[in-house]
Amino acid sequence: MDGQGPASSDDAPWLIVGAGALGQLFAASLAAFRPVILLGRHLAQPAIRLRKVDGTDVEIALARERLKDWIAKRGEYSVPALVVLATKSHDTQTALDALTPSLAPTTPLLLLQNGFQVQPRISEHWAGPVLCASTTEAAYRPMPEPKPKPKPKPEPEGDSHSDFHLSRPDVVHAAAGETWIGDLAGRHAALATVVADDLSQAGIAATACADIRLRLWHKLAINAVINPLTASHGVRNGELTRVEFRPRIEALISEIDRIMRAEGIKPPAAGWQALIDGVIEATAANRSSMLQDVLAGRPTERDAILWPLIDAGLRHELATPALTALYRATLA
Ligand SMILES: NC(=O)c1ccc[n+]([C@@H]2O[C@H](COP(=O)([O-])OP(=O)(O)OC[C@H]3O[C@@H](n4cnc5c(N)ncnc54)[C@H](OP(=O)(O)O)[C@@H]3O)[C@@H](O)[C@H]2O)c1
Repeated sequence: MDGQGPASSDDAPWLIVGAGALGQLFAASLAAFRPVILLGRHLAQPAIRLRKVDGTDVEIALARERLKDWIAKRGEYSVPALVVLATKSHDTQTALDALTPSLAPTTPLLLLQNGFQVQPRISEHWAGPVLCASTTEAAYRPMPEPKPKPKPKPEPEGDSHSDFHLSRPDVVHAAAGETWIGDLAGRHAALATVVADDLSQAGIAATACADIRLRLWHKLAINAVINPLTASHGVRNGELTRVEFRPRIEALISEIDRIMRAEGIKPPAAGWQALIDGVIEATAANRSSMLQDVLAGRPTERDAILWPLIDAGLRHELATPALTALYRATLA
């Protein structure tokens, strides 16, 4: 495995760190195919209630621990073959720092974060292979529902899980997408292929790629327009087609275009405007992840998504008034 330890080998578990939307989706999907341990911050039952894309619910049993308990009981578990970091970008370094004393220094990592902040930093400092993923899978944790009015008792279905179908899922797989996996230095292609194959086998369509930097920056461009605008205005993605948003979107895209050229990032074939408009249209009914975070009172990924662009603007001496104004208008 690029001389760095077998991410796929058989009995060695993958640790999935961060029991949020994507962490639970990956853990639930993988659990039937290979050993996984999901590490979160809170005590949880050893199962995930997953609402699949087709709207059906399944309950998947798997090993779950609090991260601090796994560290304390580390000797009871096999050495992990891969650590999948599925926290938000602002929590990733802290989670990795907590785990580091319990990991072999060359343990392969897979980073699932959006933006382009943790990826270069961790790739530079981690001794083992660092794979990055760019994924269009969409998952969310449902907000707590208001207490429902009492309903007539449902007909028994002869199914021991019938109560489960009435309860709130832990995670909703909102849309199936594609996941691209590679490393920024282009040194771990074989490992990326093994990991992508395992994910694909588990139903998360994944492909190894040699241009993960480009793919991360393209996703960053989309997120840098849609996420902060929808979060700061409290609107769903489709609202961005309203005429009053046009001048701001065009100004943002023009700055992004100049920054990408300076960074040597090839534009998408149809151009930035078409790429971003296409995503707004395709996800019109969605609440962006940043809007969901604002509504839930959670920190946003503003710094991981907007700051790499503003920072690149500063390095290349390019003015970024639209990006900077949006950065200031968006909650951290
Ligand atoms: N969700 C998607 O559809 C999607 C798609 C593409 C990319 N992404 C990217 O994937 C990353 C994760 O997104 P998400 O939507 O899954 O976020 P999320 O639902 O907020 O989940 C993050 C989880 O990490 C946990 N966490 C934070 N610090 C931790 C620590 N030190 N130890 C253990 N667990 C810790 C959080 O715990 P608490 O529960 O206590 O907060 C939370 O459960 C983000 O960078 C996002 O941009 C997400």
